[in-house]
Amino acid sequence: MQNPVTNKHSVALVDSTSHRGEVEKALMSFYDVTSFDDGKDALKKLAASPPAIIIVGEDVSPGGSLNFIRAVRGERTLTEVPILYIIDKKNFSLIADGKAAGTSDFITKPYRRSEIIKSISRLLNASIEHEWEALPELQQSALKGTASLFGNLADVLSTGEALPLSTVKDSVQPLVTAIENNDFKSILDGVRNHDDYTYAHSMRVATMLSLLGHAAGFKNDEQLMLASGGLLHDVGKMMIPHHILNKPGKLDTAEFEIMKSHVPETIKYLKAAGNMPNAIFIIAEQHHEKIDGTGYPNGLKGSELNELARMAAVVDVFSALTDRRVYKPPMESGKAIQIMKNEMTTHLDQNFVKMFSSILADADILS
Ligand SMILES: [Fe+2]
Ligand SMILES: [Fe+2]
Repeated sequence: MQNPVTNKHSVALVDSTSHRGEVEKALMSFYDVTSFDDGKDALKKLAASPPAIIIVGEDVSPGGSLNFIRAVRGERTLTEVPILYIIDKKNFSLIADGKAAGTSDFITKPYRRSEIIKSISRLLNASIEHEWEALPELQQSALKGTASLFGNLADVLSTGEALPLSTVKDSVQPLVTAIENNDFKSILDGVRNHDDYTYAHSMRVATMLSLLGHAAGFKNDEQLMLASGGLLHDVGKMMIPHHILNKPGKLDTAEFEIMKSHVPETIKYLKAAGNMPNAIFIIAEQHHEKIDGTGYPNGLKGSELNELARMAAVVDVFSALTDRRVYKPPMESGKAIQIMKNEMTTHLDQNFVKMFSSILADADILS
């Protein structure tokens, strides 16, 4: 359900009015959008090649949107594809009618661009999380526990509250166990297509940081700290506007300043939590520092960089290069390691780069 070329989730849009063009414009940089003004044509093409999600406007001809939705649900290949219904706020009765016909969620006009993107993300993620049910219990609970923690984090961040450390540790315990059992690949695969970028990135960092910790001989409780630190290291990104966080091109100076503020935002969150151990603060505060002093937020240099921060920086850079983003295909792991070895010698602790690269080779992750 992803376009292998653009690497974006495929979104179908069916609407016989001019509103179709506006929706298409709002979504095209984030999703691979195919739009249809004719319901019959849409049904035939979508049944043959099911998209990740179908957005249906109130007016679909011929036959109307409700008949179209029923017809979609009658197609064997489309029964489980989420349907987002766009209706006018005057026509509230369509909410129930749409639901009875088979919609998954609705949004009322007028709406902001961020609202429709949030609705789409929620539906895509519900489908991805549904696929986790096929995994063994340990891997499934590693994914489900951290995803639900992230859902709660978004809520508490907006109120200035924080979650207790014990809740965070409980959510990463299955992940740490999976690392100890050397059975974590399905966890990395499971988050790869998640549409919440900050969650997917944080979970990949938590997994690979624990992997590095495991190889470095960290004990279970220290591993829980590393995994918790990985999961929380970028929580402040939830405060960064979506258009900056997912900008397809290079950030300008002002946007980069806003992006950098995710570090102090994360620290603010960790302080609000009250009892966060120092290790988690260090991972969050120093993961963008570089050995030659050109990193942020404090421009720490050489021995000022804590060992945990050096580990976190290596994993964070590797993850950033190999993450799936809407604007770039994920880089191959082997290429990412080559760049880290050849072009980042003054930024990253090369001992940890070497150690990390041999762990990836052993785990058969290098491609
Ligand atoms: Fe970061
Ligand atoms: Fe990060």
